[in-house]
Amino acid sequence: METAIRHTHLLSVILFLLIYLVKTALLLANKEDGLAKFTKAVKIPEMIISTLFLVTGVYMLTQIPEIKSLMIIKIIVVLASIPLAVIGFKKKNKALASISLLMIVAAYGLAEMSKKPSSVKATVGAEIYSVSCARCHGDDGKLGLLGAPDLSASAMDLATRIEIIKNGKGAMTPFAGVLTEEQIKAVAEYSEGLKK
Ligand code: HEC
Repeated sequence: METAIRHTHLLSVILFLLIYLVKTALLLANKEDGLAKFTKAVKIPEMIISTLFLVTGVYMLTQIPEIKSLMIIKIIVVLASIPLAVIGFKKKNKALASISLLMIVAAYGLAEMSKKPSSVKATVGAEIYSVSCARCHGDDGKLGLLGAPDLSASAMDLATRIEIIKNGKGAMTPFAGVLTEEQIKAVAEYSEGLKK
């Protein structure tokens, strides 16, 4: 379900961009007739595509626990580009139409670029956690072996987590030397995500 929606979103974004690309190209090439014909031909598909694009986008947003600043920038840029595009095409203003197209492309480029490393990091964090931490803390953070605190309820900040994971505390063994700095950071971030 989740991936189906993600793929629908991506597909609708691509189709949406293709339509805008063709429109902008026609406008820039002064092909007014072509532009009018094309606009008319894609009117209904465009309505379906932009509805899909918005609905899937909103759905995906509701599935994300914390909205990151980059995502807010993306949303603002996409939302701002829409009126610019509408005005640009209505007034046949080449600069406005091109700027709005560039804005949408940039917003998605930005989001795609930032996505990969963080999801790789999250997987690394989850793997380390299940190997090194779950035996005391449990997969959900609640096991509490040897008096281990419930990580799903811990409000400890990231820096303190990293320190405790490095140096250990009480019955918790230190992980400095066992895990690299990067692995410690990844698993500390993963442990924060157990909070619900
Ligand atoms: C041998 C059992 C054990 C293992 C393995 C272990 N912990 Fe712990 N952990 C504990 C115990 C016990 C404490 C409580 C320490 C204290 O305050 O005295 C603790 C405390 C913590 C805290 C502090 C939470 C709070 O709110 O006080 C964090 C965060 C934490 N562990 C994360 C991890 C992570 C991440 C790993 C894996 C890299 C890990 N632990 C592996 C037993 C363990």
